[in-house]
Amino acid sequence: MWRRMTLRPILIHPDPRLKTVATHVDGITDDIRRQADDMLETMYDAPGIGLAAPQIGVLNRMMVMDCVKDESAAPRPMVLINPEVIWSSDEQSIYEEGCLSIPEQYAEVERPAEVKVRWLGLDGKPVEEQFSGLWATCVQHEIDHLNGKLFIDYLKPLKRQMITRKMQKLKRERARI
Ligand code: NI
Repeated sequence: MWRRMTLRPILIHPDPRLKTVATHVDGITDDIRRQADDMLETMYDAPGIGLAAPQIGVLNRMMVMDCVKDESAAPRPMVLINPEVIWSSDEQSIYEEGCLSIPEQYAEVERPAEVKVRWLGLDGKPVEEQFSGLWATCVQHEIDHLNGKLFIDYLKPLKRQMITRKMQKLKRERARI
């Protein structure tokens, strides 16, 4: 079936919508399917490896991701609705994280190296999968977004304030264009 996809503008931190706990998705509707398509399109266009609904100003619990880095490998677009971490490893790993809502800022964040996540698929069926490596970091980063949390919230206050000031400046500059 042919479906129209629309790129959605990505909110830049600081924005109160990025600090809001998103609401549960109650069922798979045409609107939800359209939102999933738009979010994947917006993520690939950015380009990014993950995007959460609050980042496009939609305050529901949907995220998309595709952490396939190798350009010759097949993409793996994933849509996770109401995702929940149901197990995390004691082992931690550190990745340099970035965020489409905090452009060009990167910092090391420590998180569980592996997580098991349960979510609702677009077909309305529950799914469970264990993630490791970049996928584990990405899925935790996106679930944080659904809880109004950003990766800079893991940093020391001074570093966080410095990044926030840069983003305020960036937003002022963009508003002027
Ligand atoms: Ni992010």
